[in-house]
Amino acid sequence: MRKLLVLMLIAALVVPTAVVFAQDDTMEFDCGTDEEVTISFFGDPVGTHGEAEAATIERFEELCPNITVEYAQGSASVTDLLATYLTAFEAESSDIDVIRVDVIWPGQLADHLLDMSEYVSQEHIDAQLPALIENDTVDGRLVALPLRIGFGMLYYRSDLLEKYGYDAPPATWEELTEMSTTIQEGERTEGNDEFWGFVWQGNAYEGLTCNALEWHAASTGENFLTSEGEINTINDDAIAMYEMAASWVGTISPPGVVSYQEEEARAVWHSGNAAFMRNWPYAYTTSVESEDIPEFGVAPLPSGASGMGASTLGGWHIGVSRYSDNPEAAAAFARYFTSTENQKLYALQTTSPPAAVELYDDPEIQEAMPFASTDIVEITTARPSNFSKDQYNAVSTLYFEAVHSILTGEEDADVAMELLELDMMELLDTE
Ligand code: GLC
Repeated sequence: MRKLLVLMLIAALVVPTAVVFAQDDTMEFDCGTDEEVTISFFGDPVGTHGEAEAATIERFEELCPNITVEYAQGSASVTDLLATYLTAFEAESSDIDVIRVDVIWPGQLADHLLDMSEYVSQEHIDAQLPALIENDTVDGRLVALPLRIGFGMLYYRSDLLEKYGYDAPPATWEELTEMSTTIQEGERTEGNDEFWGFVWQGNAYEGLTCNALEWHAASTGENFLTSEGEINTINDDAIAMYEMAASWVGTISPPGVVSYQEEEARAVWHSGNAAFMRNWPYAYTTSVESEDIPEFGVAPLPSGASGMGASTLGGWHIGVSRYSDNPEAAAAFARYFTSTENQKLYALQTTSPPAAVELYDDPEIQEAMPFASTDIVEITTARPSNFSKDQYNAVSTLYFEAVHSILTGEEDADVAMELLELDMMELLDTE
């Protein structure tokens, strides 16, 4: 029934809006070129994003029949995706036209991307959350157009919370550990040997940086690398928190969690075999539609020793390669992709909250993603990409590798953090 309602909702929204947009002759769309051209787009295989991208391409090709958008499947791991982009960019390859730019990449990729302010109106720019435009502006150039935001949240099985006598989701990470242990023991006693308390992203990749930053900020109230360049890896509360996370592996979390990315965590959750999951907003719509999840809720991530919880800011933007043979067509696609009209349809299909401010007052958006609000960017924790710019990936790699070595038991947390501090000092050339 729930599934049916969602489908009806999507059908009711997508079809008429797309038609109105295409028929509205007051809104003539500038395709950038009259020539027949083909451009490529690197898509997102995670959740329903691929479907929403395919629908976007279909609408765009209807508006600009002379432009064909070829859909290339990008990697689900953002760490691997960045490597693909960098290899192509370093070769100045024209194979890549339009790309998805992670919120952490403008500084990293700026030299390879066009200045989008030359291709869109000021109105288009002013429609987006200002913090995102600021994030995407590198040395005065707008290197990407915001599309959507993300933030870590806690998914919980409300039916199981009730069954085990809990009246609210966990407020602290200790409470999450206790509740997970109790629910897991109970479900296993009833015969479900595959049941786990908590699933999250523990693979050695960018997603672990996101999870671990949430633990770090919740326990210390600070970033592991501040916007002033201060390295904060050695802190007793953070070390205790990393130790707690390591203790989850093989107890309340599957031993394989140290190789999980978003979709592996979601698979366990979707099979109905997890009480809690840390994931991004995209897992909301797929959870609503799942038949194996009787009831669920979402909540802010638990708090740590600082007394506060923390949620990492994520999200994706659209950029155009400097090496594209068809920059006008590619920019037209990026402009359509990030238009308020398309952002709305895309957001409804993915429950990834939009970048366009006015959509937060839209009742359909509010109903589809009740957890979204315009102050998210301010209340979430940003990864230190604005400080480390083109060194961000190296910083993040040092961090997730250090945390991964703690999770796998290869290194004690205090030693791993001391080594990390030295490695970061060397990389950033600080003392
Ligand atoms: C999500 C976020 C992105 C982050 C990635 C990590 O896609 O939106 O910002 O880097 O997850 O796996």
